[in-house]
Amino acid sequence: MNTAKWFRSKSIFVFVIAGGIILRFLAIPTLAVESTEPNGTVWLSSLNLSKMTSGWGKAEIDKAVQGQPMSIAGQKFERGVGTHAKSVMYIDLKGGSTKFTAYVGVDDEVRGQVGSVEFRVYGDGELLWKSGVMKAGEAAKKVNVDASGIKTLILLVDSAGDGISYDHANWAEAKFEVAGDKPEAIDPPVEEAVIMTPKSSPKPRINGAKVFGVRPGSPFLFTIAATGDRPMEFSAEGLPEGLRLDAKTGRITGSVAKRGKYIVTLKARNALGEAEREFRIIVGDKLALTPPMGWNSWYCFFTGITDEMIRAAADAMVSTGMINHGYTYVNLDDGWMVKPGSKDPVLGGEPRDAAGMINANKNFPDMKALTDYIHSKGLKVGLYTSPGPLTCAGYTGSYQHEEQDARRFAEWGFDFLKYDWCSYGRIAKDRSREELKKPYLVMKAALDKQDRDFIYNLCQYGMGQVWEWGAEVGGHCWRTTGDLGIATSLYDNVTRYGFLHDGKQQWAGPGHWNDPDYLLIGWIGWKGALRPTSLTPNEQYTHVSLWCLLAAPLIFSGDMTKLDEFTLSLLTNDEVIEVDQDPLGRQANRVALAGDSHVWAKDMEDGSKAVGLFNTGEIETKVVARWSDLGIKGRQRVRDLWRQKDLGTFEDQFEAKVPRHGAVLVQLFPVR
Ligand code: GLA
Repeated sequence: MNTAKWFRSKSIFVFVIAGGIILRFLAIPTLAVESTEPNGTVWLSSLNLSKMTSGWGKAEIDKAVQGQPMSIAGQKFERGVGTHAKSVMYIDLKGGSTKFTAYVGVDDEVRGQVGSVEFRVYGDGELLWKSGVMKAGEAAKKVNVDASGIKTLILLVDSAGDGISYDHANWAEAKFEVAGDKPEAIDPPVEEAVIMTPKSSPKPRINGAKVFGVRPGSPFLFTIAATGDRPMEFSAEGLPEGLRLDAKTGRITGSVAKRGKYIVTLKARNALGEAEREFRIIVGDKLALTPPMGWNSWYCFFTGITDEMIRAAADAMVSTGMINHGYTYVNLDDGWMVKPGSKDPVLGGEPRDAAGMINANKNFPDMKALTDYIHSKGLKVGLYTSPGPLTCAGYTGSYQHEEQDARRFAEWGFDFLKYDWCSYGRIAKDRSREELKKPYLVMKAALDKQDRDFIYNLCQYGMGQVWEWGAEVGGHCWRTTGDLGIATSLYDNVTRYGFLHDGKQQWAGPGHWNDPDYLLIGWIGWKGALRPTSLTPNEQYTHVSLWCLLAAPLIFSGDMTKLDEFTLSLLTNDEVIEVDQDPLGRQANRVALAGDSHVWAKDMEDGSKAVGLFNTGEIETKVVARWSDLGIKGRQRVRDLWRQKDLGTFEDQFEAKVPRHGAVLVQLFPVR
């Protein structure tokens, strides 16, 4: 074996900043960089470990992920890489390695805990080795993979289906035998952002909710969502007394005194044709008969919101056409109130007036004017507060002012309230159900007294299994999990939080929805440092498909003014949105799980089924939706909802090749 040392010459650019002038020198040849032998051993720990993802902490050199010396079932290891499920690393072997060897297992630093993982090694799209499920305390397993001729190797640690808690995973003594080019850590493959949503037809199509709830006497505002060339003329037959329709804008306003179910026929006509759709108005106590759709400021502006930004978001909801697909709410999150103790002249000041009514900070000079502006566009508007003295970001909360705040929000003209637990944690005696419910009941009673309808969004991250009692305290939707966050592990959070909804389907339905947080696509960021979502295009298809199957509130939280065509295509596919907005109001649950293949399904009002085929793995996989798992029989017409195209009729099962981290969303119609 040739073990001769080799040298590589590197050209580097040197930048010198002197007296405001940038001088650029090109140094040729420059440093001779010594590398390891091309023939011999290359340790995994010597590769660029910033390219190894880790579900908790970060990949560590020669240590377990929490910093302890590496040890698996008492066996100590000097070298290796400690990581945490889910962990993935792509390595370009350039065909130069002959072997990959390692000892794998859960590190002893978690002993006594429940960590369980599966190690896998893939080579050029094929599974080369897997450990099977390994638990804490189990002896290390030896990996010995023939790597000859392989170009791309993937090292993966999976959570083995039981969540990632205590999944401290070691690739101990992990090394490559190299007879040619050195392995190099690389990024996962770059995917092209393929737009599947067809362009909307110039002919009229009525979209959005098919059923709408309102309380008797409350101000009514519903904008008929319709795509198609303008000018368009709207009409409605069978509107209850008290409502009128603006034929040009498609806005239905007024108020209905009499309780009841009213069946209305909506029509939209333009030069190219006419569309018609049944619309049910239910005047009673229930609101949010379909999951709310709209936008929230949190994941693009955080607390830095201003009146101007909110108006711009509303403008964009109209100009991008999102309003024509059913998007309605423009919601302010944290940061509109006064921040007690803040020296910032804009944020500081008196949190409340002499009568105890809440003040907005100086970024919101006139809340009523803001809500009037948003309503004038046919949209609705929401805001945020906390039952505690302070919000999560330290702004004024509603504690002991609930009645006054509800009154003020109504006077200002808001339609939606997100009520975020936060500092109420210091007020609650304990975490009993009774204490968890208490603040939500107080605000609900206050909201109910107002002469406007409020969608009531509970936010307390799933404590006390909120889904079991969220509807009881008057919530229309409740966050079931912690914040999705904007971290690079966003895909893991999307699938982890999304898939946690299996088993929660019985708690979702018209008027009460499980809420797994916002749609984090497009431009998102922290404190104004916006950047495109870290989700790959296929991961974004997964995110939106899953949220629609879950009948989750469809609240986009990226920058409305930076909507690119791809993001817009994900947000505005009417057949996909119909899965979310279906009046039957079912939440999908998992019907099959095999390795990285997940099949989720929900019943639709028309007797069809919406089915999602997901692949959480690193390589393209065939995912099979079996009729036996779906509880159906006979021939089914299968329609690809993203492409809005029939795929043919199928018997017994439908299978699709699903790309890495991707999704296929279909609807199955029984053929009679
Ligand atoms: C919590 C919520 C977020 C957001 C922030 C605001 O973290 O879960 O959705 O509202 O507070 O501070």
